[in-house]
Amino acid sequence: MNLLVVGGGGREHAIIKKLKENPSVETIYALPGNGGIARDAVCVPEIGAKDIEKIVDFARTHAVDFAVVAPDDPLALGCVDRLHEAGIPCFGPDAKAARIEASKVFSKNLMKKYGIPTARYEVFSDPGTALDYLRGASFPIVIKADGLALGKGVLIPQNLQEAEAAVKTIMEDKAFGDSGNEIVIEEFLTGPEVSVLAFTDGTAIAPMVSSMDHKRAGDGDTGLNTGGMGTVAPNPCYTPEIAAVCMETIFQPTLAAMRAEGCPFKGCLYFGLMLTPDGPRVIEYNCRFGDPETQVVLPLLKTDLLTVMRAVEEETLGELTVEWSDGAAACVILASGGYPGSCPKGKEIAIPADLPEHVTVYHAGDRLEGDRLVTSGGRVLGVTAAGDTLAQALKDAYAAADAIQFEGKYMRRDIGQRALRALEG
Ligand code: AMP
Ligand code: GLY
Repeated sequence: MNLLVVGGGGREHAIIKKLKENPSVETIYALPGNGGIARDAVCVPEIGAKDIEKIVDFARTHAVDFAVVAPDDPLALGCVDRLHEAGIPCFGPDAKAARIEASKVFSKNLMKKYGIPTARYEVFSDPGTALDYLRGASFPIVIKADGLALGKGVLIPQNLQEAEAAVKTIMEDKAFGDSGNEIVIEEFLTGPEVSVLAFTDGTAIAPMVSSMDHKRAGDGDTGLNTGGMGTVAPNPCYTPEIAAVCMETIFQPTLAAMRAEGCPFKGCLYFGLMLTPDGPRVIEYNCRFGDPETQVVLPLLKTDLLTVMRAVEEETLGELTVEWSDGAAACVILASGGYPGSCPKGKEIAIPADLPEHVTVYHAGDRLEGDRLVTSGGRVLGVTAAGDTLAQALKDAYAAADAIQFEGKYMRRDIGQRALRALEG
């Protein structure tokens, strides 16, 4: 079989490595892929993840049997719709279903209509009305741009002055472009955060092992928000009891709501949850695998990934048992100094050849210069270790992360510490 994976980051590398375990897979094309992915797949750097027509043409002319569309942008732009029109089976939601991530107004209204627990909120399309509302609000409060904003469209002002600045940034300066035409202002919730990714064919759902992201740039959750500086799985805060509550009050109702709205969700649905004192609440939905959650979740998947993805596409997921290993995994992101701001590029990367077998390096932001691997993005590598325990996985991931070299290498030193404390109770 020939497969095509749209995207070119650590998440896509993790998906590709897992797909390769299936013996019937001959060639995997990555559009665009990256320097490290080129060791596992045929990369096509000329075709970007948003070049929908070129992606569809490529799939048609290269006898692609199955495609996986991983990032949010092509999903929201209808890449899956177009691939289906061209007769190519694929994994991922269509554009209508991808609105669950692409429009916060859509997802918040969905949750309100169907009674799915989430933060209380109001929607504003006019800055003046938003400011009037904020003058009577209590702080901190959460302000979200409606559309996709590379994970940066959420601001948490501590007082009215910061809130006024936030409204100006999003709605007037258009820091996130048209994503800021509408905003959601919502109540500030507290509690541990959990990421739960789930395979779903629209009706059946198979939640994956839970995980914990570390979104801030600095140790102790300080500094700017990033795409994610590291992850661990499973998330010790997510007990079987909480999982059962989430299944009943959040996961199943969300799938039913999407069906009722005429846009059943097929693919990987990501539930960003907060375990508040009043029970689990949805902070956000993503219409795709998380990055870097995927880098700790997929290594723990025992069932063949291609089989699961095809069952999602064929709507037979309910007939499959998706199995997970009992162990744990940890991923430490190696970034270029300066991330999430601008950072230097073109620095040579040296990865020791003798890393242990249970350590995997996922490539996120690098490219090949001849046969040299050089940095090309903020998040460069994700170093994942799997182990019997989280403590062991963290030790091995950090040992490998320390052994990898490139100029300006930066990592958080406290990935997994909160999870270890939770395990100690
Ligand atoms: P999002 O991009 O929606 O995941 O939001 C980014 C981060 O902002 C989340 O991971 C939370 O830490 C935080 N956040 C979002 N919404 C809320 C909320 N209602 N209350 C508290 N924190 C929030
Ligand atoms: N790691 C968070 C996300 O993928 O959105």
